[in-house]
Amino acid sequence: MDKKNIGLIGLGPMGENLALNIEDKGYSVAVFNRTSSKTEDFINNLAKDKKIFPTYTLKELVDYLELPRKILLMVKQGAPVDDFINDLLPLLNKGDLIIDGGNSYFKDTIRRNSQLSNDGILYVGVGISGGEEGALKGPSLMPGGSLEAYRLIEGLFSDIAAKTSDGIPCTAYIGPYGAGHYVKMVHNGIEYADMQLIGECVWILKSVFDMNPDEISKILIKWNGEDDLLRSYLIEITGFIEKEIDKSTGGYLIDRIADVTRTKGTGTWTIQNSLELGVSIPTIAAAVFSRGLSQEKDLRLKMSNILAIKKEKYEKKSINFLNMVHDSLYIAKISSYAQGFALLQSASNEYKFDLNLAEIAQVWRSGCIIRADFLTEISQAYKYNPNITNLLAHPKFAQFINSNIKKLANLISIAHKAGVPTLALDSAYDYILQLMCPLMISAQVAALQRDYFGAHGYFKIESPDNPKILTDANGKNREFHTNWSEPEHSEVEITN
Ligand code: 6PG
Repeated sequence: MDKKNIGLIGLGPMGENLALNIEDKGYSVAVFNRTSSKTEDFINNLAKDKKIFPTYTLKELVDYLELPRKILLMVKQGAPVDDFINDLLPLLNKGDLIIDGGNSYFKDTIRRNSQLSNDGILYVGVGISGGEEGALKGPSLMPGGSLEAYRLIEGLFSDIAAKTSDGIPCTAYIGPYGAGHYVKMVHNGIEYADMQLIGECVWILKSVFDMNPDEISKILIKWNGEDDLLRSYLIEITGFIEKEIDKSTGGYLIDRIADVTRTKGTGTWTIQNSLELGVSIPTIAAAVFSRGLSQEKDLRLKMSNILAIKKEKYEKKSINFLNMVHDSLYIAKISSYAQGFALLQSASNEYKFDLNLAEIAQVWRSGCIIRADFLTEISQAYKYNPNITNLLAHPKFAQFINSNIKKLANLISIAHKAGVPTLALDSAYDYILQLMCPLMISAQVAALQRDYFGAHGYFKIESPDNPKILTDANGKNREFHTNWSEPEHSEVEITN
């Protein structure tokens, strides 16, 4: 029997399409699914007459594979991954490779990696983005693991990955242990923010500027034009879904959709991790929280009978409102990507992932859900200066923001007056505004409040006109406390 190049476990839509994609690139694939009727169905239909071979036990799967074996798990993240690893372990040889292609939590991937390396088994956690279509036609692949493990699948991944318009495969070695799944997690956080920002702009176009879904669709399709700054997959599909007609009523489908956005949790992980690392990603957080409030449908129905705002309509002919929405969305997008990349930068140090941010932006240029022309600019920004303090400092972005940020401020104000909430747009704007401030007065107030009620100490600045923090000869911040209970409120320096 000819040994097969790779084994794939889990024949959900993603697993099936990946198997077909791999086979299409000239590899032979042995497949396994716990429910064997699913395997039968796949082999007799989609995989008919292809170099895809059914197996009905894990032993059979393992025996089918060339050495070192490469087995791709396409199963639900969490316990199913551990279960399959445990079942496979006694059947494998040292040097065989297990690849987890699900949306696994990166700390689980780190744990599995170190457990398996004790047994001499190689492990790669790969973030796969692009949905079912991407899996079939070319996803964006974010593999993390040891270089030795990565080398075993480098060629295969390049073959099956999406290609950019200039022919570059959307995959690269991301880093060790859980780096691939970490980067996929942040991809999803950015995805949530992108979706939320687009959703808020659609809400404004509809409720403030009285546009119907067909008009909105036309605008979005225009914004996805060849040279448009917003050109991206999510803008494109929003243009499509807006104009879709509901078969049962003949009206717009979008007008019949329940305003409840569910989540599988990767956005929540992203903000949890940002809190652990102390990195502010308010726009991604706004997107997650907004999904949360969308799920509180009963509460919102009740509250809408209790709370009210007098909604002000906006005279749409008085300004170039479409340009205002367009440029605001672009600025907010730059802001949210700056937050996501700041998180990647911090995680790279914290977890020793040694991430190449230019390459990550490159991997996201095609195939994945957040694919966008604008990622080429981000990739160039990090190529030009890998240590750029924040993406907002990239000259092209900074210039655009400085010239157009008033549009975002106006849009938020118009939306609020019309009763349209803009959690993500607000936070994107405020993130930029906070970074612009050499002195955050709110933080001065809070620092002194903490010292008053808890004797927590505070740092001081050189002078009201010089916001630099006072440091000692070693560059360490000098810390002070005011004795608030004493009548004279004497100030002491905390020296230990
Ligand atoms: C991708 C997507 C995908 C994600 C789903 C559902 O990159 O292909 O990010 O991995 O899991 O879109 O995500 P939510 O249910 O959390 O929206």
